Amino acid sequence: MDKATILRWLRETDAARLEELWQRADATRRAEVGDAVQLRGLVEFSNVCVRQCTYCGLRAGNRGVTRYTMTADEIMGCAREAVRLGFGTVVLQSGENPSCTAAWLAGVIRSIKAETSLAVTLSVGERDRAELAAWRTAGADRYLLRFETSNRQLYDRIHPGLPGQFSDRLAILRQLRDLGYEVGSGVMVGLPGQTYDDLAEDLLWFGRLGLDMIGIGPYIPHPDTPLGQEALGGAAAGAEQVPASELMTYKMVALARLMCPGANLPSTTALATLNKASGRELGLSRGANILMPNLTPTRYRAAYEIYPSKVCITETAEICHGCMMRRLQSIHRSVGTGRGDAPAYHRRQHPVNERTAS
Ligand code: 5AD
Ligand code: FES
Repeated sequence: MDKATILRWLRETDAARLEELWQRADATRRAEVGDAVQLRGLVEFSNVCVRQCTYCGLRAGNRGVTRYTMTADEIMGCAREAVRLGFGTVVLQSGENPSCTAAWLAGVIRSIKAETSLAVTLSVGERDRAELAAWRTAGADRYLLRFETSNRQLYDRIHPGLPGQFSDRLAILRQLRDLGYEVGSGVMVGLPGQTYDDLAEDLLWFGRLGLDMIGIGPYIPHPDTPLGQEALGGAAAGAEQVPASELMTYKMVALARLMCPGANLPSTTALATLNKASGRELGLSRGANILMPNLTPTRYRAAYEIYPSKVCITETAEICHGCMMRRLQSIHRSVGTGRGDAPAYHRRQHPVNERTAS
């Protein structure tokens, strides 16, 4: 799909024509990854962060956050819960927390791998190549690192670097690929200053990077962040400013499915936050094929406030699991079994089998 076509879809307002986009995305999803929805259990194991991302509630400068880091045993407890609920994957997510050392996290990964057959996905920010390599050796399968926006000026504005360190997430994504990880990235939709052209470029980057997983969610202003205060103050929005809306997020999910047909695409928690009644289901009907139920112990959940009004803060993993199963049934989708590797990744890992099979 060329940029002009992408831009036309991003600007489309006619509901009948958009129906065509939803149907194309849904048909592509069904043909490429099937009807089964994979469940990835999310463990938000630490909200400690050294970064100052201006959009994120967990930024180091936000003094209002009660900081926590779960113990290895607590994380292991979540992994057991994932097995009990029939999930194929745990996603270990945290702020950029240097006190979670490479050796410590490698130990956690090894324990999970020794005791379960879960796939382990990491989402722990920008880390050194040596650390990424150590975790891969310990058995980590996948890594999520959103590039947030492909517009470098906008990225620099919302994502201050660490002293003396240039933040180059595209370079890290390439390292992850070299190390043999299944690689995920993604963006936020509707950042102040983000244009239609920026979103079209984001989608082209998804294609160029050949991503295995793509997470897309609306930007939700957090009142205790610099960017959130700017947005709440009503920053003058130009005609090219994309709205941080549910509709724009669906368009991005649908177009991401068409750009990367075989990728795993979650219907994100941020999307569910904008439409609690049916955001998840609509995401799954417009290109997405993954849900990420929260496995974080309930006592820590409220403290992992990346953005406000996040759904599923008080529910236990068991309740969320039941709720998600009902939601899947309501849209006639089944639950995936097994690890749910991305087909594109599988082809890269087994090129010979692929050739003999065809
Ligand atoms: N609104 C929406 N999404 C956010 N994220 C961080 N802050 C916000 C916010 N205010 C997303 C980023 C990050 C992911 C873990 O959460 O894309 O990569
Ligand atoms: Fe958590 Fe519905 S998914 S309550």
